[in-house]
Amino acid sequence: MVDPLTKAALDYAQAHQRRFVDELIEFLRIPSVSTDSAYAGEMARAAAWLGNHLESLGATQVMVMPTAGHPIVLGEFQVDDSLPTVLVYGHYDVQPPDPLDLWNSPPFEPAISNGRLYARGASDDKGQLFMHLKALESWNEVAGRPPLNVKLILEGEEECGSAHLPGFIEDHAEALAADVVVISDTTLFAPGVPSITYGLRGMAYVEITLTGPNRDLHSGIYGGAIENPINALAALIAKMHDADHRITIDGFYDNVIPLTGKERTELAALPFDAAAWAIEVGVSAPKTEAGYSTLEGATARPTLDCNGIWGGYTGEGAKTVLPSQASAKISMRLVPDQAPKEIAGKLHAWLEKCKPAGMQLDFRVIHGAQGMLVGTESDAMEAAVQALGGVYGRRPHLTRIGGSIPVVADFKRILGLDSVLMGFGLDSDAIHSPNEHFGLDRFSEGISAIIRFMSLYAKLFGSSTSDRR
Ligand code: BES
Ligand code: MN
Ligand code: MN
Repeated sequence: MVDPLTKAALDYAQAHQRRFVDELIEFLRIPSVSTDSAYAGEMARAAAWLGNHLESLGATQVMVMPTAGHPIVLGEFQVDDSLPTVLVYGHYDVQPPDPLDLWNSPPFEPAISNGRLYARGASDDKGQLFMHLKALESWNEVAGRPPLNVKLILEGEEECGSAHLPGFIEDHAEALAADVVVISDTTLFAPGVPSITYGLRGMAYVEITLTGPNRDLHSGIYGGAIENPINALAALIAKMHDADHRITIDGFYDNVIPLTGKERTELAALPFDAAAWAIEVGVSAPKTEAGYSTLEGATARPTLDCNGIWGGYTGEGAKTVLPSQASAKISMRLVPDQAPKEIAGKLHAWLEKCKPAGMQLDFRVIHGAQGMLVGTESDAMEAAVQALGGVYGRRPHLTRIGGSIPVVADFKRILGLDSVLMGFGLDSDAIHSPNEHFGLDRFSEGISAIIRFMSLYAKLFGSSTSDRR
């Protein structure tokens, strides 16, 4: 049962859903691609659009704050000092839309088909952050204010490493003070199967280059007598996993917090068909580290993947060349408590040890993020469990996801705040891919869940001893 005001806010959201979607479409039309400087003007336009929208909702302290990168948008609804404060985080930047020719409709001309809204950013994360704005609007319209204090921090650099966010949080720690962070930038376990994410993986991303001879050589004159950097790099990459698909870098697993028996039991009980999941992406069977389930491998174990590899001749036809150089981009998804810098250092040392003696190694760290496990026992978590339970008619699962949201560790480290990861995406939303989309059903469910969360958290705040202020 929900109280009358929450019910009124839910009804308001339902009644205005069409307009909410129209407004989201306007937001999605702005190509806010953060990684490509050609879009810097569009990034500024998206930030200004958000600032204006927050003001139209009655937010105060609305600021579009410049950084050395893209702007950070702030706003707040300060209701009453005695009420808890939620800090909402979202990101308005999106991934580049390439490859463009694989989109069925242009990425920045949002299109609705089969109840889904297709556009870059529809699910990651413009559509999801917009749910928070519409939940706030609903509360304001029916009650004149939300049932607790809300602050918002909306970032424009998540998709390219959040370079300026940690410093910004440090500089504005007081203004950002809150009781909990809420983020909608993750997935539901499956359609109609609600979940709250309690674990995120981290990241160490590096680029390596092996140099052998001082120039490209004729493979007829030198082949068989001079070692080939592409062959050597391929051999090194192949050696990074053993026959059990474990990573062979010395000390790689040193700080991994093992899955608990309880976690493994709960993961095993989730409704997940590993074979079907692999077949959906055109692969006959999943491949996971020995001793772990597919779901464990994809969400709670560290990985090492080659993301790109190049060198030598890749044009049309044949060119006989023994190349001077070979390069690769390698990402390692980390789990708590692996430290990104330390892991990159371990890979570097292993490469120096294993590479052919005569070759030179260049090793460059591109970015890193700390993996996170958030507390599951808190008033805010309980409020999220009840809010999702109310919307979906079943108790949400607690899950870990394999992706990364770097700021979650920063909020913990700098502000001491835990995050509640209440996301409404699906693995099949094609985020970062052509034809990204968001189900309009999930857009509406997300708004309802956030509306419910706000009144539930206001009510439950302080009821458990674990997180009293
Ligand atoms: N929203 C995603 C994180 C995510 C990925 C959630 C998969 C649920 C499922 C986020 O925008 C993202 O793409 N993160 C990057 C972080 C990287 C740039 C450090 C990622 O996971 O690759
Ligand atoms: Mn995201
Ligand atoms: Mn993303």
